[in-house]
Amino acid sequence: MSDSQRTSKFLRTLSFIGQLIVKRMNTILIMEIPPEKILDIGGGGEGIIAQVGRERVTAVDKYQSEINQAKHKAPEATWVLADATKLGYSENFFDNATSFFSIMYMSNEDKSKVFQEVYRVLKPEGEFWVWDASISSDKGVFFIKVKAILPNKEVVRTGYGVSSKIQTSDVVKDLLENIGFKVEVVEDNENWYFLKAKK
Ligand SMILES: C[S@@+](CC[C@H](N)C(=O)[O-])C[C@H]1O[C@@H](n2cnc3c(N)ncnc32)[C@H](O)[C@@H]1O
Repeated sequence: MSDSQRTSKFLRTLSFIGQLIVKRMNTILIMEIPPEKILDIGGGGEGIIAQVGRERVTAVDKYQSEINQAKHKAPEATWVLADATKLGYSENFFDNATSFFSIMYMSNEDKSKVFQEVYRVLKPEGEFWVWDASISSDKGVFFIKVKAILPNKEVVRTGYGVSSKIQTSDVVKDLLENIGFKVEVVEDNENWYFLKAKK
């Protein structure tokens, strides 16, 4: 590598570090998840919702590797390899739905497609509970450290990182309402939010 290539690589690395936004440990107390049969969007990785809801949860993820990472933590759940922008379920199939730090991995265009599918497969009055990162810049890389406390008091420490996109609770609320959801609860925290939407 020549000196100028080395300098240019060093500057690119510096610029990357400059744009890396790291949100320090955020404690998320999960008091409960919705009742009955739940569809969990992007349920792989840590598989938080499947660990809580067990056999009530159908966890859909588009990567087998993410499913493999989570499956042994909740083998009683139903694990499905699928892209949530096109779900193979009939209308009104699930009682409720969840997404735990999954929509941050989708463009806002894909979020809308996924919300449309969630709306379609939910029963009337079904609820969609979303925990996700509040990101207010579309530059650089966003990383949030999470300490999730499950209802049985078990603690899961993890982190979720993506290239930044604007997805504050206001933006996500608008996307959900454009589909037809009624957003009934919005809890904003410094770096993340929780919201409940009803079909
Ligand atoms: C941070 S990871 C796992 C978060 C997970 N809910 C947990 O409890 O740790 C986000 C997941 O969303 C999945 N995902 C992203 N876009 C998706 C889509 N269109 N359909 C299904 N899964 C998707 C990714 O494959 C990834 O496993």
